Amino acid sequence: MNAPAHPLPAAGVVGRSRPHESAAAHVAGSAPYTDDLPELAGTLHAALGLSPVAHGVLRSVDLERVRAVPGVVDAFCADAIPGENQCGSLVKDEPILAGGPGAVLRHLGQPVYAVVATTREAARRAAALAKEVIAFDALPPVLDAMQAHAAGQYVVPPVRLARGDAAAALAAAPHRVELDFGVGGQEHFYLEGQIAYAQPQEQGGMKVLCSTQHPSEMQHLVAHALHRPSHAVQVECRRMGGGFGGKESQSALPACVAAVAAVRSGRPVKLRLDRDDDFLVTGRRHGFRYQLALGHDVDGRVLGAEVTMVSNAGHSADLSGPVMTRALCHFDNCYWLPDVAMQGYAARTNTQSNTAFRGFGGPQGAFAIEYALDSVARRLGRDALAVRHANFYGVGERDLTPYGQRVEDNIVVPLVDELAASSDYAARREAVAAFNATSPVLKKGLALTPLKFGISFNVVHLNQAGALVNVYLDGSVLVNHGGTEMGQGLNTKVAQVVAHELGLPFEAVRVTATDTHKVANTSATAASTGSDLNGKAAQDAARRIRERLVAFAARRWGVAAEDVLFADGRVQAGAEAMSFAELCNAAYLERVQLWSEGFYATPGLSWDRQTMSGKPFYYFAWGAACSEVLVDTLTGEWRLLRADVLHDVGASLNPALDIGQVEGAFVQGMGWMTMEELVWHPKTGLLATHAPSTYKIPTANDLPPEFHVRLFGRPNPQDSIHRSKAVGEPPLLLPFSVFFAIRDAVSAAGGHRVDPPLSAPATSEAILAAVQAVRGAA
Ligand code: MTE
Ligand code: HPA
Ligand code: MOS
Repeated sequence: MNAPAHPLPAAGVVGRSRPHESAAAHVAGSAPYTDDLPELAGTLHAALGLSPVAHGVLRSVDLERVRAVPGVVDAFCADAIPGENQCGSLVKDEPILAGGPGAVLRHLGQPVYAVVATTREAARRAAALAKEVIAFDALPPVLDAMQAHAAGQYVVPPVRLARGDAAAALAAAPHRVELDFGVGGQEHFYLEGQIAYAQPQEQGGMKVLCSTQHPSEMQHLVAHALHRPSHAVQVECRRMGGGFGGKESQSALPACVAAVAAVRSGRPVKLRLDRDDDFLVTGRRHGFRYQLALGHDVDGRVLGAEVTMVSNAGHSADLSGPVMTRALCHFDNCYWLPDVAMQGYAARTNTQSNTAFRGFGGPQGAFAIEYALDSVARRLGRDALAVRHANFYGVGERDLTPYGQRVEDNIVVPLVDELAASSDYAARREAVAAFNATSPVLKKGLALTPLKFGISFNVVHLNQAGALVNVYLDGSVLVNHGGTEMGQGLNTKVAQVVAHELGLPFEAVRVTATDTHKVANTSATAASTGSDLNGKAAQDAARRIRERLVAFAARRWGVAAEDVLFADGRVQAGAEAMSFAELCNAAYLERVQLWSEGFYATPGLSWDRQTMSGKPFYYFAWGAACSEVLVDTLTGEWRLLRADVLHDVGASLNPALDIGQVEGAFVQGMGWMTMEELVWHPKTGLLATHAPSTYKIPTANDLPPEFHVRLFGRPNPQDSIHRSKAVGEPPLLLPFSVFFAIRDAVSAAGGHRVDPPLSAPATSEAILAAVQAVRGAA
């Protein structure tokens, strides 16, 4: 696709760094989250009684004992739900509450009953009776994905994505590696937990204030649970204290329970999960196991690859199907894989149902090939960056992905070469070797890893968005769009786009809460597409208004449409100059419509689920990172000494926000790769790591003392919003470099003679075990 002559807007509101639209309110504590909103008189509080067993058959629930707790107003099980007891997003396999006698209890922590009380404390006290009031017959749980895989137990049918004859290519290859490794799951750890506040409205209406990335789906699921039409349910979300994918589908259960409770009592009901309950009830990033065989030549060039990926889906399908599809579509990462065969299995286990998490399977897919290339390089005694280089997609050749989309905007070589130069990779590789030669206990490691990430929902119809723009007579503008704000800065970017379109200063534009009564049938704010889709939809709405204003001004002052210009809150119509507000007033008096809806659908996408091929992505985002670590081989402790990042965001809409996204994703991904570990008790299935006391996420102290983040400023060749690129998820893959730097340091401890058997997360415990393994084997 050809770029127009002037792809970039003139320096103005778009393309400039500016603070998040709520930044001042965030730090002042005056940006309200759902739980901060003023409570209506008569508000009740709900809590959930959770299954005390990982797998079993429900016998009975003694709700009378629950109701006897002082302050309790109501307690109910699944039979009290007026509509269907169902909150599954794609597959209808997920009950809101476990069900009646005879129902299967699917994981420890599954909601079985809801209790409603005058205070949150009373509700929680009654919920804590779960262990005593829920009677069940226990069944043996399946807690491990490989055990479920062995039993052929899946949440969705297995998928296969293949090109050529991988088996023949492997058999003919002069070298071959076989690897069995894994990566753990990850808790979203949004600062604001799951919450919904349901408020009954007149004539059977229900309004739900909800911390959700997907207000439209919440509207539909609540309507379904209440057995009412969608027009009776309004879902609103001004902002989330983080979502990270955890509120794409899993905000549904609290929303449905709060709404059912509100209908039953006729009073407003708030359900806010306690952090421990949030861990026990909701799912996370899927942990993956890989069995991989790779055939390659003497330079490390891949000739054929076979991989089996098994994800731990948990007890229901949720988004596990599209997550696995995205994993398979990211196994190639930046590399040409001539013959390849991939199989994906989403294993059903008796654990929380795993869901979207920043990257949506993409990181799990790309991690596998990066791990393999790291091993290939070590076994050949070559530098890992050279092996990666040898495998990069070509430009105009060797450029077809396994799923049949051509890699058209390949910038991996210039981007990686620029980072290798600016991070001084070659010299530091030698310095690390020199350090390690004289340091028996402390070992350094270095790695540079690239990424490519496909932008678009991998379900074609989800790639659409709507917006509503109101221009008032004082020239101020109100914007509503289908996207949700979770801290990523979407509303700031959309306001910049609208201000640019109408030639207004940023301050003239206000973005309001996402509201299903304003824009209908929206997609989740996910797949990093928030500003791509909603920015375009809002631009479309603003453009329609501007076009009407231009037509009016041209008529009124007898000038050509091209001579009506908007800039800095002023309008020039030939010789006539006026403020934007003056033009709006004049247009209003002539009955010109000063508000508009807007719509956008990403062009050119296709996907065939049967053949797993098509063009699922509008474009690719690219990036690379170089990390250096220091590992203590006696304790397994380590530090990130320095990280250099070069990340592609096209022509940035707002460089400050984009750099914030890149830094945040880097640290979040580093946590996943190195310190965040989930442990379920092997017998009971209790998630032992269910609070910050036992689940360790990175803190400010884990930032490297040297952290250089730069944006690769090439405009998007595709016609995206102002030629920018999506930034939300792709940089989560950057800290693969941290993991492989650790693996390099561990390898150094064994004199680089053996490939360290180190899976992610590389916790200190795992590092220590890997050091012992490479030394023992050496
Ligand atoms: N940034 C913050 N601060 N908080 C979040 O919850 N979610 C991430 C990413 N960045 C998230 C975030 C995820 S998972 C996605 S898909 C994108 O933001 C969604 O927003 P966008 O499409 O507008 O970038
Ligand atoms: N990302 C996030 N959510 C989704 C996707 C995706 O690619 N596909 C369907 N839901
Ligand atoms: Mo992001 S995982 O697509 O919400």
